[in-house]
Amino acid sequence: MTRGKFITLEGGEGAGKSTQISLLAEALRGTGLSVHTTREPGGSPGAEEIRKLLVSGAADRWDAMSEALLHFAARRDHVQKTILPKLDAGTWVLSDRFVDSTMAYQGYAQGLGRDAVETLAKLTLGDFTPDLTLILDLEVEAGLARAATRHGGEDRYERMGAAFHRKLRDAFHDMAKRAPERRVLVDASGGVDAVQAALRNKVSKHLGISLP
Ligand code: TMP
Repeated sequence: MTRGKFITLEGGEGAGKSTQISLLAEALRGTGLSVHTTREPGGSPGAEEIRKLLVSGAADRWDAMSEALLHFAARRDHVQKTILPKLDAGTWVLSDRFVDSTMAYQGYAQGLGRDAVETLAKLTLGDFTPDLTLILDLEVEAGLARAATRHGGEDRYERMGAAFHRKLRDAFHDMAKRAPERRVLVDASGGVDAVQAALRNKVSKHLGISLP
């Protein structure tokens, strides 16, 4: 049995990740692959419980370290209970956010630092890393305007202010430069179809699979 590939989608608020991930899953299924889509924080029953502590309530309810620990607690459960069993069964897994969100949000934008996030990742996940990370890149104002139209009460991070979200965008740019073989920036300012075509192109190129 060939192990499945693990692809993550990243980016700021309102970049269209959830729409794009379902379209990408559809395209991959069209080639005959088995595909599972998931999200963070969440993706397993335990992690979905932890999600509630993170996406609602006062913006300052956690400090950066407590917040990173909660994300990694949720993530370890998600990896053990959902992601690894699927990959081992040959299924491809597409996750809406993963470790790079903790790096960008808590590591860079909330000031925890790269080293702390890398240490926590190593401790909780060992060497487990996505095969490919697609970062949807969008102007901060456009993303926040889009995000404001959705999310039933899950708006804790959106309320952190435009300066926070600008740091976040810079963080993703810096992270893409540091690991260009795995992290790829994709312009998310176009229409749904144009962005999807760009994503498929990157998946084809990086993972050697041909997509329509
Ligand atoms: P979502 O809106 O994409 O579902 O994600 C929920 C929020 O959680 C989003 O605003 C980003 C934030 N987040 C972090 O701050 N750190 C993390 O590690 C993850 C996975 C998400």
